[in-house]
Amino acid sequence: MHDALHPVNPVVTLQRLPMPVLTDVIQIIPPDRDEDPEDIFAAAPGLIFTDDFQNLHGDKGYTIVYKSKWGPIELKTADPQAEGERQLFSHYLWNASISLAERISYDGDGGNNTWSVKGERVLELGAGVGLDGIVASLAGAEMVGLLLDPSELGTKEYWDDAYARELENQEQDADDEGTVWFSESGAEEAILKQLENLEDEGLLDRQTTRFLDLGTGNGHLLFCLREDEDEDTHWPGEAVGVDYSEPSIQLARRIASQKDLGDTARFELWDLLAESPGTWSIPGGFEVVLDKGTFDAISLMPQESSQGLQAHPCEVYRKKVEPLINAEKGFLIITSCNWTKDEVLEWLAPETGELEYYAEAKYPTFTFGGQTGQSIVTLVLRRKCAQA
Ligand SMILES: C[S@@+](CC[C@H](N)C(=O)[O-])C[C@H]1O[C@@H](n2cnc3c(N)ncnc32)[C@H](O)[C@@H]1O
Repeated sequence: MHDALHPVNPVVTLQRLPMPVLTDVIQIIPPDRDEDPEDIFAAAPGLIFTDDFQNLHGDKGYTIVYKSKWGPIELKTADPQAEGERQLFSHYLWNASISLAERISYDGDGGNNTWSVKGERVLELGAGVGLDGIVASLAGAEMVGLLLDPSELGTKEYWDDAYARELENQEQDADDEGTVWFSESGAEEAILKQLENLEDEGLLDRQTTRFLDLGTGNGHLLFCLREDEDEDTHWPGEAVGVDYSEPSIQLARRIASQKDLGDTARFELWDLLAESPGTWSIPGGFEVVLDKGTFDAISLMPQESSQGLQAHPCEVYRKKVEPLINAEKGFLIITSCNWTKDEVLEWLAPETGELEYYAEAKYPTFTFGGQTGQSIVTLVLRRKCAQA
């Protein structure tokens, strides 16, 4: 490793100093797939930074493990599409990032090239894999913002490809219904619990409540309302799933017909940012509008795709969704992994808007290095005039 990467004046009193050789604190795991033909250009930054040491690590789709003082942190690099995205170079972990992570991991005073971020508000610009933001959070920063590039999850092409693949898989194996987002966190169970609470509070009627699932994907969330007729989790009212991806709608319809759900659950093609609601919409609005991961996908929309919109995609989302919620007794139950509770409320329940916070699901929290966190949030927002 190049000497210049070592601090001029190492602090021997800290736990992991002098500064380690940077490559010793990371492990690079290549993706288990064939190389993309575009990849021949992927090492271009190595030509720009012609030093005799390796300045960047990984490549698109790689896993990089950073051996932090709190334990291993697994990072996934971006998978850039075409030259425009590759030029952002965010599909690498850079030495500067590892070096900074080491320097903020310990409670330094700045004097020896180590800094404490405890209690500070930290913003990581051009975060790439986000290592420094994650480490700042573990090191006790009060608040961390990461400016990431909008990922491919914000593009229609991504979802079309994903659901075309899932359709094919399901054709070969009827039991393979594809990805159920946030299933590892128990999101569907948490949403069902919120519905049960609203019924217990006399705010929803199990027999007549009508559902709209925004960005329904494979429709799994609506199917879980239909499972086990004898169970508390069964909600028999009308249900509509909408998505802008044609293969997603094909997949959801096919699974619905295999489950013999008749027309009690419909699936319709709809781009919620760009189109007016179709004939599936209900005058007066649905009692429950569900969103699991769709607001997240929309908030990752690349800038060039959102240029035709009148406002930020998250703002357009709110304006489009509000009227779909029943004004007398309607709720939006939204689950996000990209935003914190406060951020979701800032976007979707501003004072001037029509929604307000009503409740939130409890998820098990994790504690890592003394910091407590939660991987997803599920919020119940109520249409304001619903209180009257
Ligand atoms: C993270 S997936 C969640 C899928 C499903 N809700 C679930 O929980 O499994 C996001 C979904 O949002 C859909 N989506 C993204 N932008 C959309 C838009 N503008 N209009 C309608 N659906 C959209 C995608 O096609 C995708 O199915």
